[in-house]
Amino acid sequence: MIPKETVDKIIDAARVEEVVGEFITLKKRGANFLGLCPFHGEKSPSFTVSAVKGIYKCFGCGKAGNSVNFIMDHLQLSYPEALRWLAKKYSIEIIEREITPEEKERNTERDSLMIVMQYAQRYFTDKMLNSDEGRSIGLGYFQERGLRNDIIEKFQLGYSLEARRAFSEDAVKAGYMPKYLVKTGMSILSNTFTEGNEITVKDIFDRYAGRVMFPIQDDGGRVVAFGGRTLSSDKKTAKYINSPETDIYNKSKILYGLWLGKKSIQNKDCCYLVEGYMDVIAMHQAGVENVVASSGTSLTVEQIKSIHRFTNNIIVLYDGDDAGQKASNRAIPLLLEEGMNVKLLMFPNNDDPDSFSRKVTIDEFQNYIVANAQDFLIFKAKKITGETKNDPIKRAGVIKDIVESISLIPDNIIRSIYIKDCANIMEIEESILQLEVNKIRRKITSKNKTSVDPEVYQGPHPDDIPQEFTPEVKQEKEPLNFDAEEKELLRIMLTHGNILITIDAEDEHQEKHDLEITLAEFILFELWRDEISFENPIHQTVLDEYIKELSEQRLPNLQHFSMSQDPIISSFVINHVMNNYELSEKWAHFGVYVSTEISNIKKSSQHLLFSLKEKKLNHYISLKQELLKTCTPDETQGILQEILHLTTLKSRVNKLLGRIVVK
Ligand code: CTP
Ligand code: MN
Repeated sequence: MIPKETVDKIIDAARVEEVVGEFITLKKRGANFLGLCPFHGEKSPSFTVSAVKGIYKCFGCGKAGNSVNFIMDHLQLSYPEALRWLAKKYSIEIIEREITPEEKERNTERDSLMIVMQYAQRYFTDKMLNSDEGRSIGLGYFQERGLRNDIIEKFQLGYSLEARRAFSEDAVKAGYMPKYLVKTGMSILSNTFTEGNEITVKDIFDRYAGRVMFPIQDDGGRVVAFGGRTLSSDKKTAKYINSPETDIYNKSKILYGLWLGKKSIQNKDCCYLVEGYMDVIAMHQAGVENVVASSGTSLTVEQIKSIHRFTNNIIVLYDGDDAGQKASNRAIPLLLEEGMNVKLLMFPNNDDPDSFSRKVTIDEFQNYIVANAQDFLIFKAKKITGETKNDPIKRAGVIKDIVESISLIPDNIIRSIYIKDCANIMEIEESILQLEVNKIRRKITSKNKTSVDPEVYQGPHPDDIPQEFTPEVKQEKEPLNFDAEEKELLRIMLTHGNILITIDAEDEHQEKHDLEITLAEFILFELWRDEISFENPIHQTVLDEYIKELSEQRLPNLQHFSMSQDPIISSFVINHVMNNYELSEKWAHFGVYVSTEISNIKKSSQHLLFSLKEKKLNHYISLKQELLKTCTPDETQGILQEILHLTTLKSRVNKLLGRIVVK
């Protein structure tokens, strides 16, 4: 358990723009920061971060929260895990109290898997550095391939001993449960195991025995998988064995090198895409850190999106061999479709980044990659100027190819620039190229028409469009819905609850005099007087917290609620209170809204309270009327009286409502 003071310290330190900025590129826009939403994949930014309020909000998908919520959502962590992550980032020491056996048991399974992976990574590194076998075989291998020690350490490389059960047995001895060793994919169940029994150490053996180990990290830096390379040149042995898909390793999402590379990708505004683990590592050794590999699978749209959070520009460095060509043929259309600017980079003599980097100096390497990256479409168009120029069939093939690629580009302007440039290079009419592209575009767009593309809608989220407060209209349609009033009352209490208002009060001699109380006290008193609780449990939860704060002599402040550990409270406040508040702040810029809101606040709170009461009365009346239909004749009289009473009350409330409106 993390002590409360430490939690406060972490929350204070964790500036939302810094935390979010770790994962996506943010550009300053006025008082806010803007970036591509990491939650819903979009091509133009609608993800807004307000440093002043400590919150983020996506106007595309509606996700909103504070720095802790962001880490929870983005890294799929629990609340305490997210706090720990932030504590590490800000070097805040957490002195946790002992966890009880029950708490230990409650530790999620994902936690257990992560812990196994962390243990495994340390284990393999330790064996590589501190055992004879590890040093001569594992470390020896990496050194032979020219890796410097600092790079071996940076990538947390390791070695898995040849003995078939070395890792599994040591892990069990160290207290890790065999079932988690299997679930992480680090150990394999032997076929002596019978289903239904508890897995014991005898039932498992190592997946990676005798291989050098490449840990694969998620973009929070946690080891979630491994790639293990064989040292044998036997063609029958798989060169790499990778972790299977597990609860913590989603192959289609993880990119090798992203954690170590994202800062550089962001700074350089460009990302190199390579094929293998060794390529990523070799590029780092050559001083190029903005590089990722899709490791073990072909590049997926999800992986592209996670690169796109940091940059629009990608340079593909796949091998010139068949496999490399195939891979880039699959990857490039996806990259274009996601709106990335795609360049190609090829090395001489079929070298890959790893082999090329070993033949040249660091400077030569860096100069080469800068000088030789070519725009993918221009590169294609240029093919026509060579031998194809006088071969009409080949020419047509290249043009068709180009047309298909250009059609994939989502941005109209970029598309038309390419049409122009490629037409020039290929020496054909721009209009012809345009026509062909249009044909395909129409096919693409009509295919997508069936569903509304959420990415096309660029306006504000429907929830963010402020609604005029119109209880009368709403009431007719949904007599049971008190949401609007409850929400608005909470908003007023949270934003202006501390302002003082004057009300008429009677003292014990029934003399009238002015009394100053806070607006919050006034609203709470009115609710209490008529025993009104909020129908919506979310609203009631926020109200309870509000009352608790007041009763502990604290002035409720917005930050307290938006940083609440209870996600119900924080998300309500961020979504429904801070946004509207933000709006009123914008208006305040022009000197209108806030002052009118404050000057009217007593009136509008009263209005809300009465309208809430009126709705409740309507609701009770209709309940009683229902009752009339089914009651016994004896009961009729009593119920009619109740209805009469309620109706009288209602007309009083109505009068008050009316008066307040005209005032
Ligand atoms: N790969 C894999 N399984 C294999 C072969 C390859 O998962 N059996 C993946 C690995 O992520 C590897 C990448 O594909 O890094 C590229 O493969 P390859 O070019 O064969 O390996 P390199 O990384 O170049 O490894 P090395 O230089 O050690 O041969
Ligand atoms: Mn290689």
